[in-house]
Amino acid sequence: MDAVRVCWLEEGLVSETEARVSALDRGFLYGDGLFETLRTYGGRPFLLAEHWARLRTSAEFLGIEVPAVEPETLVTRLVEANRLPNAAVRITLTRGPLPKGPRPGTPATPTLFAQARPLPSDLDQRTAQGIDACRLPWPLRARGLPLQGHKTLAYLPSVVALGAVPEGAEPLLETTEGHVSEGATSNVFWVRVGRLFTPHTDAGCLPGVARRLVLSLAEELGVSAEPGLYPTADLAAADEAFVTSSVVEALPLVRLDGEPIGAGAPGPVTRRLHAAYREAVRRATGSP
Ligand SMILES: Cc1ncc(COP(=O)(O)O)c(C=O)c1O
Repeated sequence: MDAVRVCWLEEGLVSETEARVSALDRGFLYGDGLFETLRTYGGRPFLLAEHWARLRTSAEFLGIEVPAVEPETLVTRLVEANRLPNAAVRITLTRGPLPKGPRPGTPATPTLFAQARPLPSDLDQRTAQGIDACRLPWPLRARGLPLQGHKTLAYLPSVVALGAVPEGAEPLLETTEGHVSEGATSNVFWVRVGRLFTPHTDAGCLPGVARRLVLSLAEELGVSAEPGLYPTADLAAADEAFVTSSVVEALPLVRLDGEPIGAGAPGPVTRRLHAAYREAVRRATGSP
């Protein structure tokens, strides 16, 4: 039998089987809240300050109060209590319970919840072999919509996208104008003749923490990176491609709708950037 896991609710640790959130919670009723998913390596969180800053910026935009917890304490205690030094930690913040309709006017007491999970067991294998990307029959992003840059609980576009592709493939979210925006749970990059391309945040993608790290590592490695508005045909014609997220780091894309991208295998620029990512992890957390 699995050991009972422990989660963080409000101000401390509780067993997951005992954790209770109000049925009037606006996160449940309206998707009125935010979340962050980050990784710990050897018990230490990676880029926690960046994740917490994004949560804070979005909370301010939405007028949700951020409880006065020390995020490092929360994350380290959570993974320690679960004996999961290498975990994916999800932090959820909602506006909290309010008895009346959707209008957010009355201040509520926000709900803070965090859980730690083991990493996907096939992640190393997927990173070594690469995965498929699939286009969808409809756009799920548009240019210039103000909520798209926030990691809100309103995650249905990604849920629907994931349900529409074979298990293990990453759906590509496109804009109404046919630009690549991002993956359902990731940011997208591709390489063409040694240059790196990724959708600009104007294409409706999340300003991913891993995306930002990869862009700065590319600069350090002298790989020119060009965020922009690109049609999906550019990705199809790339020499190599990958997706990024704080959970998967840099995960090669080797096929698009069943057709090989470049040589149909993880490419050298992807490998170099992933190695640099790992080195950044090692420097920050001391974990090999
Ligand atoms: C829609 C979407 N885009 C991009 C990302 C990558 O963000 P990050 O690098 O901050 O993990 C995620 C992560 O969950 C996501 O859900």
